[in-house]
Amino acid sequence: MSRSRPLRVAVLVSGRGSNLQALIDARAAGQLPIELVLVASDKVAAHGLRRAEAAGIATLALTPRSHPTRAAFDAELFARIAASTPDLIVLAGFMRILDGAVLAPWHGRIINIHPSLLPRYPGLHTHERALAAGDAEHGSSVHFVTAELDGGPLLAQVRIPIHAGDTPETLAQRLLPHEHRLLLACVDLIARGRVELAAGEVRLDGAALPAPLQLPAHGTTFA
Ligand code: GRF
Repeated sequence: MSRSRPLRVAVLVSGRGSNLQALIDARAAGQLPIELVLVASDKVAAHGLRRAEAAGIATLALTPRSHPTRAAFDAELFARIAASTPDLIVLAGFMRILDGAVLAPWHGRIINIHPSLLPRYPGLHTHERALAAGDAEHGSSVHFVTAELDGGPLLAQVRIPIHAGDTPETLAQRLLPHEHRLLLACVDLIARGRVELAAGEVRLDGAALPAPLQLPAHGTTFA
């Protein structure tokens, strides 16, 4: 089902916000049919918030410490997000585990970008872990978010080779522009109404994906 209006997108960040910037830039260039309605963070000092302000996007900084419990923080955060009426929530470097209760109403409308070839290496230190395992390739995944950390249904991945002499830093640096392409490609598919999560399966143009889409080495469209 194609969409007739821009997809309303809220983005959650905890730090640098380079994936957010990729969304801002693609939208500004007229390459992505979205409206960025809110950028929210659990860190007042997150650079991503400054990027959003510079782009004229509404921001929200909520400090977990000022809430009595983790669940209270999550409930407040998601109430504020809901007030901005997004169609899609994007977790782009958001470093907190979210309560299943706040996620449930957003099932199929919240995605995360994670720097590994899931199901390998959910959680932290993905670059270190890929190197320690002697993997020949590494990558990034976009998945729908469920209560299971980095465990929801996979939409798409991008792969890069691991080079001899790579360090966690060189690997992360080389992967980053590919992550940006992957996120743009995924948000574009969702914005065009081509992807949905239904009955636990990811569907593209109405047909269940047998495996995550794979982004080619160049460009922002799937082969
Ligand atoms: C990215 O590697 C993303 O995959 C991970 O956290 C990092 C965020 O980077 N979830 P940035 O804040 O978008 O620059």
